[in-house]
Amino acid sequence: MAKIIKHDLLVLGAGLAGLRAALEASIVSKGALDIGVVSKLQLMRAHSVCAEGGTAAVLRPEEGDSFELHSWDTVKGADFLADQDVVQRFVEMMPAEIRLLDKWGIPWSRRDNGRIDQRPFGGHSFNRAVYAADKTGFFEMQTLYDTLLKYNAVSRYDETFVTSLLVEDGRFAGMTAIDMSTGEFLVFVGKALIMATGGTGRMFGFTTYSHTVTGDGCALAFRAGMPLEDMEFLQFHPTGLVPSGILMTEACRGEGGYLRNNEGERFLTKYAPEKMELAPRDLVSRSIMKEMAQGKGFKGLRGLDFIHLDLTHLGEERIKDRLPLIREIALKFVGVEPITDPIPIRPVAHYSMGGVATDIDGLTPVEGIWAAGEVACVSLHGANRLGSNSTAECLAWGKITGQEATRRCEALKSVPEPSPAMIQAEEDRLFKDILQREGTENHYQIREDLASLMDHNMGVFRDENSIRRALEGILELKERFGKIFIKDKGRIYNSDLVMALELEFMLSNAEVSIRGALARRESRGGHARTDYPKRDDENFLKHTMAYKDGDQIRFEYKPVKITHWHPVERKY
Ligand code: FUM
Repeated sequence: MAKIIKHDLLVLGAGLAGLRAALEASIVSKGALDIGVVSKLQLMRAHSVCAEGGTAAVLRPEEGDSFELHSWDTVKGADFLADQDVVQRFVEMMPAEIRLLDKWGIPWSRRDNGRIDQRPFGGHSFNRAVYAADKTGFFEMQTLYDTLLKYNAVSRYDETFVTSLLVEDGRFAGMTAIDMSTGEFLVFVGKALIMATGGTGRMFGFTTYSHTVTGDGCALAFRAGMPLEDMEFLQFHPTGLVPSGILMTEACRGEGGYLRNNEGERFLTKYAPEKMELAPRDLVSRSIMKEMAQGKGFKGLRGLDFIHLDLTHLGEERIKDRLPLIREIALKFVGVEPITDPIPIRPVAHYSMGGVATDIDGLTPVEGIWAAGEVACVSLHGANRLGSNSTAECLAWGKITGQEATRRCEALKSVPEPSPAMIQAEEDRLFKDILQREGTENHYQIREDLASLMDHNMGVFRDENSIRRALEGILELKERFGKIFIKDKGRIYNSDLVMALELEFMLSNAEVSIRGALARRESRGGHARTDYPKRDDENFLKHTMAYKDGDQIRFEYKPVKITHWHPVERKY
C-alpha cells in the first residue's frame, strides 16, 4: 500500500534551481505555502556544489558591459540556436540575483575596494563571471540553504528516489517514489511540481558529472509524455583532469592560464587568434581534439591522451587565492603542483544543452509542471552554453518557476489526486517486475558499456558511422536491460534496485540524444559532425523536439525565436 504525502508545491531536486525555486515560493507566499522538497540525495550533495568558476551577470555598465553585450555573447556562443526573448529576459534578471545572494551573505570574491569582483570566462566579451574563489556552486548552495532555513515552509524528503510522474488529462497528478532508507513506496501529491533534477551527462564515462547525475528528470518527463528538446547538443568542457574527468574550471584560463600542446605551443593561435584560451567551449574542445589527432598530445593511459593546462606563470599567490580547489584537486588526484607544473587535461562531457521542453516561464506542456535549471530546455543556451551562464540560469529560472508555481498553488482550491490504478501499476512495475528480475545480465556492466559506447561514438566529433554505431549499441543495451538481475531483494537502502532504475533513465536519454544527432545533418555548437562540417541554417535553424510514441521516438521541429540577431559566421 502506497503512503500518500500531500503538499501544495513539490520541488523535485535540491540543487541550485530547486533550492532557489523553493526559496522564491517561500518568499512570495510569505511562508504560507506548504512545500515539499524531494531529492534522491542528501541536500548539500546535489551536483550544484561542484560548480566552480562563476555566475554571469552584467554588473558594470559604467565600465562598458551591457545587457545587449551579454545577450549577443550568449546568442553567438549558442551558434544562433538560443531563443532570443529567453536570452534577453535572462540577462536582465541576473544582476538582481547576484545582489540578492550578496544580501543573503554569500562570500563573493571582492576587489580591494570591496566591490564584487568579476573574472573573464570563455565566449564572454567582458569580465562578467561573479565568483567565490573556485567554489562558486558550493557557496551558492550553502547560501540558498541557509536562507531557506529561515522559512518554516519546507519539508525535506532526502534520499527519496522518484520513479514516475503521474499525469492525468494533461495535468500534474502526483509522483511515485521509493523512500530509500525504508524501501517504502510513496506517492507525492500537490498542486504543482517544479522539476530541478539536473542534466544527463553520466551516460558518458569521461565526465565532470557526479555519479548521481543520471538524467532522471528528462527520462521521467519523456515517459510521462513530455517532449525533450535539443537533446543532441551535449557540451564538452575543454579541461577535464586526466584520468578522472574532474572539472578544471574555465576560471583557470579566465585567470590567465594557457593551453599548450606537446611542443609547448599555445595552439589556440591557429583556431581562435583573438580570444585564444577564452574562446567558447565547443571551439576550444574541438581545437584540443584536432591537436591530439595530429600527434601533438601526450600519451595517456586507457586511450586518454591529453594536453597541458599551464598555470605556472600565474604565480603562487594568485593560484592559492583564486584557484585553491584546482590546486588541491591536482595535488591529490594526479600529484601535480600547478604552481610549478602543467596539469594534464582533455575535453570532457560536462553539460546538456537540451532537456524538458518549456516555455519562457519554465512551464512544460503538462499543466502544473514546471522545469528549471539543467533538466529544462528553456532554450537559453541553444547549441552551446557559455561558461557561467548555467548557475545563472538555475537562479533565474528557479526564481521564475517558484513565482509561477506559487501563483497556481494559490489559485487552486484542492490538491488533485491520481487514480489508484496508476499508482498500483507503478508499484507492480517496481516491486513485482524489476525488483524480482532474475535474468543473466549485470546492470552495472551495462552501465559501463553505455559509458564506453557514448565516449567512443558521441564525443566532441561525430559522423553518420559513429552515430549509427551508438544507435545499434543503445538498442542492444536496452535489450540486455530487459534481462537484468537484481541481487538484493530487500527494501532498505536497495541501491541495487535504484541504480538499475537510474540506468533505465540513462538508456532512455541516450537514445533520444543519439537519434536527434543522427537526424541533425549539420554541425552547430556542441554537435560537430565531420561528415557535415558546416552549419546549415536553411535546413536546421530549428529546435529538435522528441516525443515518446509508444515504443518509438517521434521527432518534430520548432522554429528558433529570433528577435534581434540573424545568424552570421562565428569567429573568435
Ligand atoms: O569551468 C567552470 O567553472 C564551469 C562553469 C560552467 O560550466 O558554467
